[in-house]
Parts: sequence; structure tokens; C-alpha cells
Amino acid sequence: MSLFDQIKGFIFDVDGVITDTARFHSQAWHAIADQVGTPWSDDLANRLRGIDRMESLEIILQAGGKASAYTKAQKEELATKKNEHYKELIAGLTPDDILPGIREFLTDLKEHGYQMSIASASHNAPAVLHSLGLDEFFPKIVDPGTLSQGKPEPEIFLKAAAILDLEPRQCVGIEDAVAGIEAIDAAGELSIGIGDKEALRAATMVFPSTSQLSLPNISKQLLGVA
Ligand code: G6P
Ligand code: MG
Repeated sequence: MSLFDQIKGFIFDVDGVITDTARFHSQAWHAIADQVGTPWSDDLANRLRGIDRMESLEIILQAGGKASAYTKAQKEELATKKNEHYKELIAGLTPDDILPGIREFLTDLKEHGYQMSIASASHNAPAVLHSLGLDEFFPKIVDPGTLSQGKPEPEIFLKAAAILDLEPRQCVGIEDAVAGIEAIDAAGELSIGIGDKEALRAATMVFPSTSQLSLPNISKQLLGVA
């Protein structure tokens, strides 16, 4: 039996995997960084990928040497401001914003009887999936409000497997974030990275773009690691 034969479910991150909303999170955080005086950089933007809202704010404040400059209430205000900005940026999302190959891949998975779930830390993910017209593929998703630990801890990917009634080793996780790949690996699931091969080197396999995400390509790569 190949590694591929044991796979029964696919667990997707949303921002940066299903649609390019990672850039909207970045844009909204960039504005907050400007406000608190933290210099913005690509490295900082990448460190925020996959990280939940309050933790992202803490990272931005720390990067600017302002870790203890704001009260809890002020931090809540900054996080709310970022979220309002982000919601404005995603207001115009349509099915045209689905990343290349994703709808075809989801359709293929469904036709082959695979189970599918979502492991996004974003409280906005259900609204994003709805705007993209992809809700039908994901009746069972993890509610990030139920989590006690964010990525890179494995909790969200373990919950997604449990929701599907599968063992972690029966699941594939798909992520664009380093923290996300770490979470999938720690959960004991098979990790697929979307993006830079070097940055995501901890993943079982990496595809530079979602357009390469397909059952034949995954199966081919797995023969290499089996
Ligand atoms: C995802 C994104 C992060 C974002 C987090 C929380 O993991 O990759 O950039 O901070 O969700 O999103 P939210 O929409 O709840 O603020
Ligand atoms: Mg992501």
C-alpha cells in the first residue's frame, strides 16, 4: 500500500491557498504597523502568515519595540481597526478570486470521495468561502474560536481531522505559511506547501503555485518519498 492509499481527507488553509487574501491581511497589518511605528518588511509580513489576530498584533508591537506600550483595551482597539480594514478589502471578493486550479482540484477531490475541511485561523474564513461560492465543498470546518493554541501548534489540524472522523495520518494539510506547515507536521499529517520551496522546506512536498495542485501530481511526488 502506498502512502497515497491511506489518504482519505484534505484539510485546507484559506488565506494564501484558496484565495490570495493573505495580501489583504498584510495590507491591513501594514497600516497598523505604520500607526504604531513598526518598520514594515517582507520578513515581518511572512512571519504573520497563518498567525491569529491578537498574536499578529503582538508580533508587530514587539518588532517595533512597543511590546508594553499599549494597554489591553488599546490592543483590542488596534486589532478591531485592522479587522474593519480587512473586511473592507475582502468586501469585493467573487468566485473570480479563487486561486488557479483550486476549484478543479476541489471538484476532483469530491468526485473521488475524499473528505474536505478547513483549518484557517481566520474568523473571516466562512465569509470568504461564501463570497468565493465554495461553501458547498466544506460543510465541516474548524471554528477558530474553539482553539486554545494557534499555528504552529497542531491543534487546528488535529481538530480538522477529528471533525472528518479521520486519523491524522489519513489527512493531507495544505498551507502557504511556515507556521502552518509546522502545525501540519506536528499533527502527524502529510504537509503540502504552496509557495517558496526553500521557505517551506519542512513540508513533505511543495508546489510553487496552486495551479500544480492535483491528485496525479501529489501521487507522483509521494512515490518519491515513499
Ligand atoms: C489566517 C491568516 C492570518 C490572520 C488569521 C486571523 O491565519 O493567515 O494572516 O491573522 O487568519 O484572521 P482574522 O480574519 O480572524 O483576523
Ligand atoms: Mg495562509
